[in-house]
Amino acid sequence: MSLFKDVLGSGESLFRNELALDYSFVPKLIPYREAEQHQIAGCIKPLFQGRSGRNLFIFGQPGVGKTVACRHVLDEMEEQTDDIDAIYINCWQHNSSFKVFLEMCNVLGYRFTQNKRSDELFMIIKQMLNKKQSVFVLDEIDKLQDYDFLYSVLEEIYRKSVIAITNERGWLSALDTRIRSRLMADSLEFRPYSFDETRGILKSRMEFAFVPGVWDPDAFSLVADKAFEMRDIRRGLFLMRESGLFAEDNASRKVCRDHVLHSIGRLDDFSVKDKSELDDEDRFVLELVKKNSGSRIGDLFRAYQEAGGKAVYKTFQRKIDRLEKDRYVALDKKVGGIGGNTTMVSILSEKKLTEY
Ligand SMILES: Nc1ncnc2c1ncn2[C@@H]1O[C@H](COP(=O)(O)OP(=O)(O)O)[C@@H](O)[C@H]1O
Ligand SMILES: [Mg+2]
Repeated sequence: MSLFKDVLGSGESLFRNELALDYSFVPKLIPYREAEQHQIAGCIKPLFQGRSGRNLFIFGQPGVGKTVACRHVLDEMEEQTDDIDAIYINCWQHNSSFKVFLEMCNVLGYRFTQNKRSDELFMIIKQMLNKKQSVFVLDEIDKLQDYDFLYSVLEEIYRKSVIAITNERGWLSALDTRIRSRLMADSLEFRPYSFDETRGILKSRMEFAFVPGVWDPDAFSLVADKAFEMRDIRRGLFLMRESGLFAEDNASRKVCRDHVLHSIGRLDDFSVKDKSELDDEDRFVLELVKKNSGSRIGDLFRAYQEAGGKAVYKTFQRKIDRLEKDRYVALDKKVGGIGGNTTMVSILSEKKLTEY
């Protein structure tokens, strides 16, 4: 048998730098977000003179460059000065005050965290940070289970900027007044990219990640169309990588339309986050939606109760709303009709796939 007769020879990969397609890759330039980066930098600037900075609340849909713009500003800041500590925390991964403190210690290079309580950890962090200035970027802040650490940071760290990022426009106004009045943050919205911007971003990533000329222009257009339709750059990156890998599997020296169409089918497996990062309850609800995709929310809630779900309807509804924001499910609101207003819930990827 010659199982491998079709493989491309080594040195024949279509990829030049596959890492450039990672969602966490920070490119050298972040086009179309210059104004946003200036505003972020503006909040931090006073720290350069040893004064306290301003706080900022950033919101916008998934995949519009919120994280990458902030990381880029932090990188530039760190190139300019050693006097300001940059503390970036993903609150999805570190979703309680204790875990956030542990991660802060980790960022600051403090290793002796074992057997220490939250307040002990914070004492150490405080001592380290109050010697200098600091910027906190709290990404996906709505995923936090408690805000105790934020209260401590706002009260006890002196010269700082706190930048909170979320997909949820209403997060700030829903915040406990005790914290909101201390945060006093300016707001900055990241709008979705236009079609040309989407295309421009993906094109430069393609040129960076792939050997020149391997992408058929039609195939690339299909990726850009799909990413724009879903208003999410990350999905475009996913499609580029999948299409490239699929083309290689087929020993093709070009990435063509068919390879992209194939990977559009795989958007089903795509999620903004790895599903394992959802909490158990969210996963439970998501499984229910999957089994009953297209049902009314009321019926879904009954199925949830029958399966042993404990939350009341309002909480359940909030979970569904959150799953929608994170693009796991799609909601279709129907006004009027026999049963009055209702919301139909379906698994997002299935809905999108039927459109092809
Ligand atoms: N203006 C841009 N220039 C280059 N890459 C971008 C730009 N906007 C988004 N991206 C890329 O798209 C992906 C999603 O962006 P990200 O910042 O993670 O979105 P968000 O945090 O808003 O969900 C990332 O891989 C990021 O590098
Ligand atoms: Mg992000």
